[in-house]
Amino acid sequence: MSRLSELLAERRVAPSILSADFARLGAQVGEVMDAGARVIHLDVMDGHFVPPITLGPLVVGALADQVHAAGGALDVHLMIERPERQVQEFARAGADSITFHQEASAHLHRTLGAVREAGCLAGAALNPGTPVGALADVVEAVDLVLCMTVNPGWGGQPFIPASLAKVRRLVGELLAPGTPVEVDGGVDESTAGPCAGAGAGLFVAGSAIFGAADPAAAYVAIAAAAGAA
Ligand code: DX5
Ligand code: ZN
Repeated sequence: MSRLSELLAERRVAPSILSADFARLGAQVGEVMDAGARVIHLDVMDGHFVPPITLGPLVVGALADQVHAAGGALDVHLMIERPERQVQEFARAGADSITFHQEASAHLHRTLGAVREAGCLAGAALNPGTPVGALADVVEAVDLVLCMTVNPGWGGQPFIPASLAKVRRLVGELLAPGTPVEVDGGVDESTAGPCAGAGAGLFVAGSAIFGAADPAAAYVAIAAAAGAA
């Protein structure tokens, strides 16, 4: 079993470095890991699938040793067109999971297989406007499902309440038992509890952690609200 699958046996809060201070990225990751975080979320945006351009394999590689040495894992979220072209690069850089958007891949099943073959957990992400049924025929091929709880592209947006029903349907009706559902966007101390109630297992929080005066304390508070390890 991979390190990340072991970590995901319990609920986890994954700080998203999108809202971190990039001039002191290693220190910021160190702060949240010292507070207990073990899954670090990296948002890759290409300026096409979503308007912003953020980071690539170089930044994944720059954090890999630090995070792995502390017993953690790198959860890579690709918001890019043609994700199949980038799987190898991100796997080589040290990604433990690679999640890409259903909306961005014409060959969802094949790309999920390529991610597993590269030694990573394979994740499929859904935009708020995409029905959960879009994944109905790949349930055996996914290791995790990321349910966007805001529209992808930016941190700091408000949580979309209708996402809770989607998480419930994914967990209760669609996915194989034990497949973790990740919620991403607008997750904070007040929305983490309802997400946990709906069945989410992995909680991405960016601005609520790195936008706080004390990221470590914010991590602890959100983890408590989520009932996370
Ligand atoms: C948004 C990204 C998120 C982002 C969440 O497209 O996928 O991971 O960092 O940011 P917050 O937690 O601020 O909504
Ligand atoms: Zn994300």
